[in-house]
Amino acid sequence: MERTFAYLKPNAIQRGLVGEIITTLEKKGFKIVALKMIVMDEHLAGELYREHTGKDFFVPLMKFVQSGPVVAMVLEGENAIKRLRHTVGRTDPLEADAGSIRGRYGVSVRKNLIHASDSPESASREIALFFEEREILDYTLALEGEL
Ligand code: PPS
Repeated sequence: MERTFAYLKPNAIQRGLVGEIITTLEKKGFKIVALKMIVMDEHLAGELYREHTGKDFFVPLMKFVQSGPVVAMVLEGENAIKRLRHTVGRTDPLEADAGSIRGRYGVSVRKNLIHASDSPESASREIALFFEEREILDYTLALEGEL
C-alpha cells in the first residue's frame, strides 16, 4: 500500500465541498489515515510550494492558500499517488477530465480546490510537513481487501 498527501484548498471549504470531495475519495477506494483542518502559515506554505519560489504565480498562490482553513489528509491505497492525481485531474480545471474533482468543480488554476502530491518523494516530504508519524493512524476498513 502506498501513501500520498492531499489538502483541500480554502475555496473547497468556503464552498462547502469538503464532504463531497472526501466522499469521492472514499468511493475511489482511498483509505483516510490522517486528517486535520488547519490554517497554513507563511513558513508552511513556503515549504510546501518551495519549488515554485520566484514564479509569477508564487505570490498569489501563497496568499490564496493562507486565506482560510484547509483540510489536510494522508491517503493510503494501491498506486495511491498516481491514482489520486488522476482522480483530482489536471491543474487547470478547463483541461481536467470532466469527471475529475477539478473538472467537476474547479474554477481556475488558482481555485482548483485540491492539491495532490506528484511523486513518492513529494508525498513523503509533504506528509512530514503536515503530520507527525503518531497522527497517521492504523485501522481496518470494513471492506478492506474487497475493493
Ligand atoms: S508548474 O510551473 O507547471 O510546475 O506549475 P503548475 O503545476 O501549473 O502549478 C503549481 C501550483 O501552483 C498553482 N497555481 C496558481 N496558484 C495561484 N495563482 C495562479 N495564477 C496559479 N497558477 C498555478 C497550481 O494550482 C498548483 O497548485 P497545486 O497545489 O500544486 O495543485
